[in-house]
Amino acid sequence: MKRRRFLEKLAGGAVLGTAGTLGTAEGKPQPVIPPLDGPLLKTPAALMAPRADGIEVVWAVDRLCRGWVEWQSADGTKGKAAADPFGFVPQGDQIIRVRVDGLKPGTEYRIRAVVESGDGQAAREEGPWRKFRTLDPVAKTTRFVVWNDTHQWADTIGKLHEITPTDTDFMIWNGDTCNDWHEEAWLTPTLLHPGGCDVTAGRPVFLTMGNHDTRGKWAFKVPERIATPDGRPFYAFRSGPMAVICLHTGEDKPDDHPSFGGRAAFEMLRREQAEWLGNVTARPEFRDAPYRVVFCHIPLRWTKEAPALAYDKGAYDAFSRASRTQWHDALVKWGTQVVVSGHTHSTALIAANGEFPYVQLVGGGPQPEKATLISGSADAKALKFTCRDLAGKVLHEVEFKPLRPI
Ligand SMILES: [Fe+2]
Ligand SMILES: [Fe+2]
Repeated sequence: MKRRRFLEKLAGGAVLGTAGTLGTAEGKPQPVIPPLDGPLLKTPAALMAPRADGIEVVWAVDRLCRGWVEWQSADGTKGKAAADPFGFVPQGDQIIRVRVDGLKPGTEYRIRAVVESGDGQAAREEGPWRKFRTLDPVAKTTRFVVWNDTHQWADTIGKLHEITPTDTDFMIWNGDTCNDWHEEAWLTPTLLHPGGCDVTAGRPVFLTMGNHDTRGKWAFKVPERIATPDGRPFYAFRSGPMAVICLHTGEDKPDDHPSFGGRAAFEMLRREQAEWLGNVTARPEFRDAPYRVVFCHIPLRWTKEAPALAYDKGAYDAFSRASRTQWHDALVKWGTQVVVSGHTHSTALIAANGEFPYVQLVGGGPQPEKATLISGSADAKALKFTCRDLAGKVLHEVEFKPLRPI
């Protein structure tokens, strides 16, 4: 939804009072306090990290606010998520995030964000109701979509938003949402209202971290504006017959590369994910899943794999050898059927072989002529992926048989 329409659609959005203070007291100059008017809600309420028992909702506010989420199901059940882990009503002066728990699997809800000024001002806004469905780990089917490498290209995001279905179980936004985070002000519009579009409407989003999402002096604030199921950049979930593992491939050069300014610590994160992979894939719902899929921003395989790169002379990874070295054995043991990535800005479909028994599918780049929409579905017969350009031309198709009967 475009920004203007979003503001027009706010329900109960009237500002009930303002308390701006200007001028002087006792003749002394006072700091000019911005007037407390205008909408409290700055972005749509982004639906992120859906689970079988809930979801997390993240949105931006104009100034200090309290916020909560109200939900209703078709059978008339109502609820309110209005507490953070420390017993506060969720609050923020830029971002409010609310984790909703206690919902039923595979159930449709309508949900909205509500905010009240937290600074003595009598203002309250109720965001529009929006629909979503909790994940269903035992469903017979699932549908999903994948974006990657949007890099703040508003035209591309607008077109993707237009052509992407809004009745899918989830969307994977597979990294590189941005160019480097040189300005803090870029974070909120890029992550919560990209291209002025309400991208999570009808498709709650899982974000995987791309290397550009980690770059720049303000990148450390990305986690304040996104939600993942467990608060980490690697996670796993079931949607119907498909088990999904999302991983953080880190940067495309070693951590000590001077361009990272001492801010990268991905070697440790890759090792931690290797250990976690061994544990999560042993859990029955993942170990026994009919379909097994990995999403990660940097591919784990590429069409040409140079044995070594001159990182000090401008080279960078097209595929993450550092990640693959850590994760390959666990991925093979699990029975990973396909790894879906972006990063190269050039699509690819690399077949499985004896050494690498998982297919590698790679989406396109940020320019409209390079961008792709990957759509996927799974049912009793097959797990299918179709990669199309923005005009709808099919670039790659691949499908997999279930590893276990459904
Ligand atoms: Fe990229
Ligand atoms: Fe990338």
